[in-house]
Amino acid sequence: MEKEEPLIYINGKFYPKSEASVSVYDHGFLYGDGVFEGIRAYNGVVFKLREHIERLYASAKAIMLEIPMDKEEMVNAVLETLRRNKLKDAYIRLLVTRGVGDLGLDPRKCKKPNVIIIAEPMLPLYGKESKLRGISLIFSSVRRDRVDATTHQIKSMNYLNSILAKLEAIDAGADDAIMLDERGFVAETTATNIFIIRNGKIITPPTTTGALPGITRNFVIELAGKLGYSVEEREITPFEVITADEVFITGTGAEIVPVTKIAGRVIGRGTAGEITMRLIEEFEREKSNAANGIKIYE
Ligand SMILES: Cc1ncc(COP(=O)(O)O)c(C=O)c1O
Repeated sequence: MEKEEPLIYINGKFYPKSEASVSVYDHGFLYGDGVFEGIRAYNGVVFKLREHIERLYASAKAIMLEIPMDKEEMVNAVLETLRRNKLKDAYIRLLVTRGVGDLGLDPRKCKKPNVIIIAEPMLPLYGKESKLRGISLIFSSVRRDRVDATTHQIKSMNYLNSILAKLEAIDAGADDAIMLDERGFVAETTATNIFIIRNGKIITPPTTTGALPGITRNFVIELAGKLGYSVEEREITPFEVITADEVFITGTGAEIVPVTKIAGRVIGRGTAGEITMRLIEEFEREKSNAANGIKIYE
């Protein structure tokens, strides 16, 4: 039997993947002018869906993009996309582009934003074994965008800053790259937030470094609190990362992944650290808890 094609939501209608398209005049394509969210569903519960929708609307506000539906309608559109695709566990990509305009960049020429929702089964991002073995990072020479520029506090469709750093990581044979802010303090990786542990203390950089205010990051701070650890948000130097007892990254796709090598230095004992493992266990327990999201099927 042929595998059914995924159904893609575009502006309220569903199209098979092979027929789902937008115009090449969409400013999302021409200029990266748009915002997006990456969301996960676990066992029939869309993890932190309201938080993702809030962040999407905040990003849209920052680029003066009026989303042509309210937040509740957006929540329902995501749930409906999952139902149409009969998914319980999925990765969801939600995009709102500026829409079709002319070849100039004036957004006023774009009269109607495009709302697109893609939902697919999810494979582990760095491979299952990465959760135990840990991944390797380098320090990228590409600095994180400044907070007064294409800041990653806006989750925009412009990811070239991260892609340039990712290319360096690939070239160096590492799994990913740490990006520093313009002053040289640690911001985040190309698509995840970063935490370090020193002397039993969990530390993560503030979003003033240009890091995205990650939803997984917030959840990990909450889980750490439940486990009796406090998380300090403060500037972190590259030295502190290299000499940390444990380092891990967080993100919707990655979840929590230990980092065991940075710029050629082995971190801690070179395996996933104890506190990192406790957080991973707690995250696994909590991620499909209906209290942490919205149920797809009632
Ligand atoms: C640049 C960047 N930082 C951090 C994250 C992690 O954020 P979240 O936990 O909300 O997925 C992402 C996720 O897409 C990202 O793109």
